[in-house]
Amino acid sequence: MTGTALAGPEAVAGPRSEDCLPKPARSAPAREASKGSEVDISLAGKVALVTGAGPNIGSGIALALARYGAKVACNDLELEAAKAAVRRIERNGGTGMALSGDVSVEADVLANLAEVLGAWGRVDIVVNNAAWLHASHILDEDLASFNRAITIAVNGNFLYTKHAALAMIERGIKGSIVSILSSNAWQGAPGFIAYATHKGGLANFVRAAAMDLAPYGIRVNSFTPTAPRPDNPELLAQWRAEGRTELRPPSRETGSRPAWWRETGTFDVRGQIPMGEPATPTDIGHCIAWLSSDYARLITGCDFVVDGGARAKYWAYTPSGDAAGPVPLIPLDTTSEADLG
Ligand SMILES: NC(=O)c1ccc[n+]([C@@H]2O[C@H](COP(=O)([O-])OP(=O)(O)OC[C@H]3O[C@@H](n4cnc5c(N)ncnc54)[C@H](O)[C@@H]3O)[C@@H](O)[C@H]2O)c1
Repeated sequence: MTGTALAGPEAVAGPRSEDCLPKPARSAPAREASKGSEVDISLAGKVALVTGAGPNIGSGIALALARYGAKVACNDLELEAAKAAVRRIERNGGTGMALSGDVSVEADVLANLAEVLGAWGRVDIVVNNAAWLHASHILDEDLASFNRAITIAVNGNFLYTKHAALAMIERGIKGSIVSILSSNAWQGAPGFIAYATHKGGLANFVRAAAMDLAPYGIRVNSFTPTAPRPDNPELLAQWRAEGRTELRPPSRETGSRPAWWRETGTFDVRGQIPMGEPATPTDIGHCIAWLSSDYARLITGCDFVVDGGARAKYWAYTPSGDAAGPVPLIPLDTTSEADLG
């Protein structure tokens, strides 16, 4: 769908010294054939499963995988959320299946996978997206909430990665598994103690699982969203109706504070992006679709960001705000808020 001009061998700087590795010999016809042809990044024939396919990032990833040609099963704890993700896929010309299940319950994971395998005969791509965005300061957090947040994320990633990999191995499928992390996997932010614990743990889960599954040709990578700007028209309409603009979930109401309580700082999400523009779930979807394609066949154990340079930024540097911005977004949802009434 998104054809890209294939860079010919001329695009690569030639070897400058004798200690460079020799380039593989390419025949004149092969060189000629590569000139001017286009790469079609297609997931046609593949089956994907996205967990936690709620209206924000999960639905965006599911839609992208469908637009790139995969059949997409959408899991969520809330069946209605999974059905909404499927309706979005279908009105954009794709094929989807709604599944209800708790990613941290093994029987649900096995049942969901069995439904996909029964209907479509295979699973090639799994995106472990479900999480509980539970924001709590360490001095407020209680053990039950801490455990619940960690159980959903850690058990969900473990169970889906294990059982999907077994299904792939049984069918000789060299698939792709992607865990959705967060900046909280890599950096400390106040008020996210459980979230930071499980996202940080999953960053190394991905590398370890990548090693276990490498001999089978199954790749395991992660993607780190950085507070993307929602772009699902249904979600935007809902937020508009609610008068909500806040991107982060409101902090838990903790009642009155003791006299010794010290406030933490503030977040400036938009002012820290060198390219001046936040990513959207559509940007995330483009990246994960490519990462899940066979073009990424040797990429495993890696983390990806689409953040306009935010994570690469030196911590003390604040961009001027005078950025030209990136090229326009290539949209994947052909509907708009107006179409939805
Ligand atoms: N929104 C952000 O700014 C942001 C930033 C960084 C990372 N992330 C990560 O991206 C992913 C998606 O974020 P989002 O903003 O779309 O979240 P969201 O809360 O809108 O969606 C999460 C979905 O997961 C589902 N879910 C929760 N527990 C589940 C369970 N046990 N089994 C199955 N489904 C379950 C929920 O019902 C919901 O639909 C999460 O992993 C989140 O941690 C989000």
